[in-house]
Amino acid sequence: MKILVTGIAGFIGSHLAERLHKMNHEVIGLDNFSSYYDVSLKRENARVLNGMGIHIMECDLRNEHLEMKLPTDIDFIFHCAAQPGIASTSSFEDYLSNNIIATHNLADFARQFLKLKFFVNIGTSSIYGSDVFCDEEQMAKPISNYGVTKLAAEQIIMSHSRLGKFPACSLRLYSVYGSRERPDKMFSQLIDCAINGKSFPLFDGSQAHKRSFTHIKDIIDGIVSIIGKEAVCDGQVINLGTDKEYTTQQGINTVEKLMNTKIELNQKPARSGDQLRTKAVIDKAQRLLEYRPSVGLEEGVQEQIAWVLSKNAQTLKALSIPT
Ligand SMILES: NC(=O)c1ccc[n+]([C@@H]2O[C@H](COP(=O)([O-])OP(=O)(O)OC[C@H]3O[C@@H](n4cnc5c(N)ncnc54)[C@H](O)[C@@H]3O)[C@@H](O)[C@H]2O)c1
Repeated sequence: MKILVTGIAGFIGSHLAERLHKMNHEVIGLDNFSSYYDVSLKRENARVLNGMGIHIMECDLRNEHLEMKLPTDIDFIFHCAAQPGIASTSSFEDYLSNNIIATHNLADFARQFLKLKFFVNIGTSSIYGSDVFCDEEQMAKPISNYGVTKLAAEQIIMSHSRLGKFPACSLRLYSVYGSRERPDKMFSQLIDCAINGKSFPLFDGSQAHKRSFTHIKDIIDGIVSIIGKEAVCDGQVINLGTDKEYTTQQGINTVEKLMNTKIELNQKPARSGDQLRTKAVIDKAQRLLEYRPSVGLEEGVQEQIAWVLSKNAQTLKALSIPT
């Protein structure tokens, strides 16, 4: 199958592309290499994927006329591109354009120019609101511009499924971590602090925040399990995450234990849009996708630490600095 992965140079998109390629699909990808975080990390992800023979187009979904850039024989789309996070550096315009306008353009392109077998929207638990422990029937009450615009993006795609324009589903992901995690996310920052003796910015009250931290392997297992189950998934919104729950403090303790160090905390005022709790209810994913996340927190964080250390060793080697 010919599969398009949007946001292919990012954290989740790059892992997904790699897995789909290993499953012998013809994978192509697009990314605008946005400067939300260090672009060299995205270039490195793209370089690895290029090395596997995956073709990547530098393309911004906010621009119309995608038919001038993209092939028209695509069977499947996994839409990962987005303005993620709740950083104060991201403007409302960033969320509006990269989440809503970009998704609208992609849907328009798919509707007009493709005979699509299926469209998978990568959604988020952030659409639910502040205290999240619910199934997919729960009314969405987002508390951030990220959550609001991702909800709109999801509805754009699902409306195309409802209208019979193309079959689609949306997967609502919960706190993903692991190798290549975005540098603005918690485990990336904690590992960086532990290695470089920096202090970790702890937003007021966030020590007690609870999250279903889900390792990237479990997330990718869930995403690719849609293939072959298109008929049952069409029109569905499905939560994807581990049903285990951990506090931020447990996350900090895990990195400290595995790296045998104490991380200094730098107390900051509470962040607007930060959710109190996100615990995944995955009965639907278990039923429709036979989804069984299996990576425990220590095992998952260990994988991420090993990846960061090997990346640092490669950098030092390239600079001819002995490790
Ligand atoms: N990481 C998580 O914990 C998490 C949790 C829930 C949902 N998600 C969703 O997963 C998806 C991927 O997130 P991620 O953490 O990998 O983020 P990421 O920033 O690493 O990846 C997103 C990629 O999309 C690209 N992009 C952004 N705007 C674009 C545009 N207009 N045109 C083309 N490319 C564009 C970026 O350059 C980036 O490479 C997003 O849709 C996000 O909302 C992530």
